[in-house]
Parts: sequence; structure tokens; C-alpha cells
Amino acid sequence: MVIEMRGIKRIYKMESKQSEESVVVRALRGVDFSAGEGEFVSVMGPSGSGKSTLMNILGCLDKPSGGTYTLDGIETSKSNADTFAYIRNRKIGFVFQSFNLLARTTALENVELPLFYRRREKGESRDSAQARREKAVAALREVGLEKRLHHLPSQLSGGQQQRVAIARAMVNDPAFILADEPTGNLDTGMTLEIMGLFQELNRRGKTIIMVTHEPELAAYTKRIITLRDGELVSDRAVTGQRNALDDLSQWKQDHALLASASASANAAAQVPQEELA
Ligand SMILES: Nc1ncnc2c1ncn2[C@@H]1O[C@H](COP(=O)(O)OP(=O)(O)O)[C@@H](O)[C@H]1O
Ligand SMILES: [Mg+2]
Repeated sequence: MVIEMRGIKRIYKMESKQSEESVVVRALRGVDFSAGEGEFVSVMGPSGSGKSTLMNILGCLDKPSGGTYTLDGIETSKSNADTFAYIRNRKIGFVFQSFNLLARTTALENVELPLFYRRREKGESRDSAQARREKAVAALREVGLEKRLHHLPSQLSGGQQQRVAIARAMVNDPAFILADEPTGNLDTGMTLEIMGLFQELNRRGKTIIMVTHEPELAAYTKRIITLRDGELVSDRAVTGQRNALDDLSQWKQDHALLASASASANAAAQVPQEELA
């Protein structure tokens, strides 16, 4: 198993200003969740159900108040800050809604960065500058951006920026990709492109965990877990997984039809005016 969570709890304690007592929020109330290599899982649930809390624990950004979490064979709850940072850097590839690319830095340099700051195990040698470059180029090729290596983020579309972020997430060959609403800032076409890329990476064996609000996007994954009030209330396989690239070409056709229909409608509307002139 890549991910093995048992009885994960997270309690937030807040000091109340009005009274002496502290307020306790049970954000996760004993979640069991496992995922193996090659899975593509959506995390769903209404606002406040505990998705971000679960993401933070999955991403080793936060520790649970109770339960155990084993990632790629490492028991994370017992690990110290150093090991925690190592796991975060080497085992998890983060993809965020807002891309989080460095603005004055090319696509290639953005992807090289995690290799530069790569945490090494004892005895592991540092990659040479040339090796780092080769790995970054390979990751950008995997997301179809080999012709945009020297572009700045501002010279790329939103979808291309998210591709750079995905290349950056993959460059350290993590155990899984953790994506938080990865298409939240993208239009329909780019969203389908990114979902198509995730599906292709998943077919090549990448394990992906994605938080999403949208059932239409969850339909491109293979399994959906749903949280409610801090509990995992449903865990089911997606039957009839949709193909994002098929949906993209259908969407483009419909779009082109709509565009030409409105163009001819405009042309028709202009006839009387021209006759008047
Ligand atoms: N840092 C925090 N301190 C106190 N309560 C929090 C904190 N983070 C989240 N919560 C509470 O925990 C519950 C789950 O929140 P969250 O994980 O953000 O849900 P979701 O991402 O599904 O909207 C909510 O009731 C929220 O108010
Ligand atoms: Mg949230």
C-alpha cells in the first residue's frame, strides 16, 4: 500500500474568548483509508467535512491527533521533523489550485527547483547540474511542454502553467501526487486537458489523490471517497470512468458549432442594416 490510514483523528482546540473553556472541533473522527499503487482517487464532501484537514495529514503538513498513517512503508506519526520534511519532499508531489510557480523563473527552472532542494538519504549523492536539467526536461516532456522550457509563467496559459506545476510535482518521482482542486482556476477546455493529462499519467502508473467539489471531475477518476462531518461515509469505485480527452474533443466540436452558429446569426442580423445603408 502507498497510503495506509487507520483511525485517523484530528481535533482542533481553540481558546474561547468568552469563557474559560476551550472549544473543541473534531475535524476527523477516525478515518480509515488505504490506497495502492496506480489508484486515482477523488476526495469529496461538503464544505467543512474535513477534506483540507485530511489533505494536510496525507501531505504530511500536519499530524493527526490519533491513529496511524503509513506512507510507502514509513510510519509518519512516529517520525521526527527531519523525516517528516524528507517524506514531504520525496514522497509527495503537490499540485495546487493556484499553480504556485515562481514568477520570474522559467518553466525549466521551476521544475529543477525541487531537485536542487532535494532531501537526500544517508549516502545518497547530490545530482549534478546536468542531471538535474535532464530530469527536469524529461518531466516537462511528460506533460507535453518540451517546447516551452524557457517560457516564464506569464508567457504560458493557465493550463500550461498547471502542466509546469505537475511536472514539478513529478520530478522527484514521488509515491503519489496530491492535488487540491487542481482545475479550480481553469476554464472548461483547460480543465479537460488537465484531467486528460492526469488520466494519462495514471495509465502510466502514477498514483493520484485529488480533492474536488465537482462530481463531473470525480467521474474522470477511478474511486471516490466522501467525507461528512469528519467521517468517511462512502468509498466506491467509479463505474464507467469518463475519458477526459474524448470529452475535450466533443467540447471543442460543440464549441466550434456554437461559434459558427453565432457568427452566421450575426451575419444574418447585419443584412437588413446593410440594406438600409
Ligand atoms: N485550524 C483550525 N482550527 C480550528 N478549526 C478548524 C481548523 N481547520 C479546520 N477547522 C474546522 O474543522 C472542520 C473541517 O474543516 P476542513 O478540513 O477545512 O473542511 P473542508 O476542507 O472539507 O471544507 C470545520 O468544522 C472547520 O471549521
Ligand atoms: Mg477545504
